[in-house]
Amino acid sequence: MHGMNPILTSTPDASISLPVTAFIGGGNMSSALIGGLLGAGADGARLLVVEPFAEQRQRLRQRFSGVQVLAMPTPALHAAQAVVWAVKPQQFAQAAAECRPHLANALQVSIMAGVRCSAIERQTGAQRMVRTMPNTPALIGQGITGLFASAQASAQDRAVADALLAPAGQRVWVEREDLLDAVTAVSGSGPAYAFYLAEAMSRAGEELGLSAEQARELALATLAGAAALAQGSRESLATLRANVTSKGGTTAAALAVFDAAEMQATIVRALHAADQRAKELGDALDAG
Ligand SMILES: NC(=O)c1ccc[n+]([C@@H]2O[C@H](COP(=O)([O-])OP(=O)(O)OC[C@H]3O[C@@H](n4cnc5c(N)ncnc54)[C@H](OP(=O)(O)O)[C@@H]3O)[C@@H](O)[C@H]2O)c1
Repeated sequence: MHGMNPILTSTPDASISLPVTAFIGGGNMSSALIGGLLGAGADGARLLVVEPFAEQRQRLRQRFSGVQVLAMPTPALHAAQAVVWAVKPQQFAQAAAECRPHLANALQVSIMAGVRCSAIERQTGAQRMVRTMPNTPALIGQGITGLFASAQASAQDRAVADALLAPAGQRVWVEREDLLDAVTAVSGSGPAYAFYLAEAMSRAGEELGLSAEQARELALATLAGAAALAQGSRESLATLRANVTSKGGTTAAALAVFDAAEMQATIVRALHAADQRAKELGDALDAG
């Protein structure tokens, strides 16, 4: 069983057999999670998806044989012991109103950005819930998801939510719901920061005479490789950086420009702005 403290897990608890689970919304995230669960051996007959868009239902049926795909909530949902909310936050109120009569006393797992537990409780009447914040690499199983469980959720509920999100990549549990705003600031919005840095590195590479493809590959492989190196190391990030920065060398020349522009402080300020914006968006969704 996974602990209650902030933890990083990369493999789900093998002893968990998934309960019958209904996905509300059959879009990108649901498809990635369902595909990953089936790939890991989950029984498709124990998964349901509610998806109002006919073309999307067709795609789901073709891709995931055995999974029950519903156009609207029906009493079939009563069988679900876990529900995964995977609609856009703005679609949640309507989807919840439609599904509520058909939802038994299920664990509610939300992947909706910014929808707070209080809103989920208000809209579904449920108290056992796990709110999560994945990021876009989840779509290829290489994301990282922050998870927060309500006080009423049991250890088993946490383990189920952890297993349901495992196909999205690693999981980090947080102890307070507001820390999901920090998760949003670091990893939720983080892929864009990585693209931003890669963009600048590619642009410079091109200015220095490389082709666009060469510059892009060099930038992306460097970010991926550096991240993998750091993940496999016990050294602090500052030490890893110092280790590759010889005095008077090329790296030092580049970092001196970063430091003169106070890049670290700027990035820290940027993430504070993202955290603040996550709180504002949460407030707006709460009010609406
Ligand atoms: N994509 C990511 O990487 C990512 C990362 C972090 C968080 N999230 C969160 O994950 C959630 C889902 O994102 P997504 O990218 O999977 O969105 P998506 O592709 O738009 O999927 C949402 C699906 O829900 C369907 N839907 C709309 N109203 C519904 C209702 N009343 N009942 C049942 N289904 C309904 C939509 O159908 P229509 O097409 O007909 O509207 C759509 O197929 C969002 O809340 C997002 O904030 C996503």
